[in-house]
Amino acid sequence: MSAANLRVVEHPLLEHSLTILRDQNTSRADFRHHAGVVSKVLLIDVTREAALADVRVTTPLAETAGQQFADRIVVVPVLRAGLAMLMAAQDLLIDVSVGFMGLERDEETAVAREYYRNMPDDLASQWVIVLDPMLATGGSLDGTVCALKDKGAQRITLLCIVSAPEGIQRVTENHPDVTLITAAVDERLDANKFIVPGLGDFGDRYFGT
Ligand code: PRP
Ligand code: URA
Repeated sequence: MSAANLRVVEHPLLEHSLTILRDQNTSRADFRHHAGVVSKVLLIDVTREAALADVRVTTPLAETAGQQFADRIVVVPVLRAGLAMLMAAQDLLIDVSVGFMGLERDEETAVAREYYRNMPDDLASQWVIVLDPMLATGGSLDGTVCALKDKGAQRITLLCIVSAPEGIQRVTENHPDVTLITAAVDERLDANKFIVPGLGDFGDRYFGT
């Protein structure tokens, strides 16, 4: 599957940890650990695009040239499952701002319903990185991107772990100005709109619900 604004990240660490996430026999502790590993690899990949500013730094021996992030970044986890990726983001980008989007799919219709939203005010001047491990029908991320654009966001990147072709098509076509980065593109959705082969219900496996 390809789209101009889709990037599939390849890395041996991703393959290894994703296989453990997919395994139905993986313990909750291991699931949480490997969700963190995958999130960090994705975040390291996405921050290749971060702008840097030249700075001077004084080491114990001399003054020299250095570089630091010029971008102001806000991460937006899509509740609940996106929280699994938030800790990795806060570990790597320690003073990152955090916005929250609460969406829940109806178990019968798989249509996402918004139940919570709390965003920083100045989204127009920030790089917004949305965290949601599962992209299935695309309803949750389509709704999130629309909400962010309504708030003025101009630079938006979506970070997913497992994505289905249906969701990729919906998000990349509706938002050609948004970049979608994922660790895996799976085969399809089943009759219940779950990703196949996927890894099951991410939130339930991560939080033990
Ligand atoms: C899951 C997942 C995504 C969404 C993807 O959340 O975390 O947010 O489904 O499905 P979609 O692309 O069809 O919208 P869910 O609604 O199950 O809520 P949860 O994170 O609280 O478990
Ligand atoms: N949400 C999940 O957690 N898993 C899926 O397969 C689809 C939506």
